[in-house]
Amino acid sequence: MRVVVTGANRGIGLELVRQLRARGDEVEAACRHPETATQLRELGGRVHRCDVAEDASVKAFAAELGDTPIDLMINNAGISGGSHQQLRDMDFEEAVRTYQVDALGPLRVSLALLPNLRHGAGKKLAHITSGLGSIGDNRSGGFYGYRMAKAALNMASKSLAVELRSEGIISVVVNPGWVQTDMGGKSAAVTVADSVRGILHAVDNATLDQSGEFLDWKGTQYPW
Ligand SMILES: NC(=O)c1ccc[n+]([C@@H]2O[C@H](COP(=O)([O-])OP(=O)(O)OC[C@H]3O[C@@H](n4cnc5c(N)ncnc54)[C@H](OP(=O)(O)O)[C@@H]3O)[C@@H](O)[C@H]2O)c1
Repeated sequence: MRVVVTGANRGIGLELVRQLRARGDEVEAACRHPETATQLRELGGRVHRCDVAEDASVKAFAAELGDTPIDLMINNAGISGGSHQQLRDMDFEEAVRTYQVDALGPLRVSLALLPNLRHGAGKKLAHITSGLGSIGDNRSGGFYGYRMAKAALNMASKSLAVELRSEGIISVVVNPGWVQTDMGGKSAAVTVADSVRGILHAVDNATLDQSGEFLDWKGTQYPW
């Protein structure tokens, strides 16, 4: 299987590459700065430059892949929206930047690499969302930029699922849990290795019938 992972230089993305390569998959790893992605390079395999918020960068990445068939695309790159996204302290410019990366980024990469996915046998799109993107599970408010961007990503995944179903292409969003990464912090509940094992298990088992769903790293469904 050949897999694309964005935001592959650290955190969940880096661990996705590690576990995918360990089980024998080919990985096309993408990150913003390949020249400084030391840990990613140490894992071996191909490393590409891709800033998911930049059209030109995504197009250049797609051109680099050419007509390489892709079985699974994991849209992992994301940002948390910064420290000014509360009721009393809202930075709207920051929210727009968050939307560019977290909501439009996965859609931008998915559309650019759709021809590659059509050529692959796996035909799966998995987007790493967040529990904070769930409207049904929102019990604490706040995080306006991040919550709204991830909710928009969830909607994009659903529309992709609807439109691509006839071609046998699956699109799901996966909640990785609260994970011990730079974003999640040291006191997060889940190790990055456990989260990624759960994400891969959920994605591996996702069927066309499940396309459009909001999956959880624990293997269950997450409320919208
Ligand atoms: N950790 C958690 O508790 C948690 C919970 C829910 C959801 N998530 C989601 O899980 C995904 C991975 O998060 P993480 O915890 O691994 O975060 P992380 O440790 O902060 O890593 C984020 C990754 O995204 C990359 N990235 C940021 N902006 C990018 C852009 N414009 N183009 C390409 N890559 C970009 C970063 O690259 P640079 O090094 O170049 O910045 C980095 O590789 C994100 O989508 C996040 O929203 C995480």
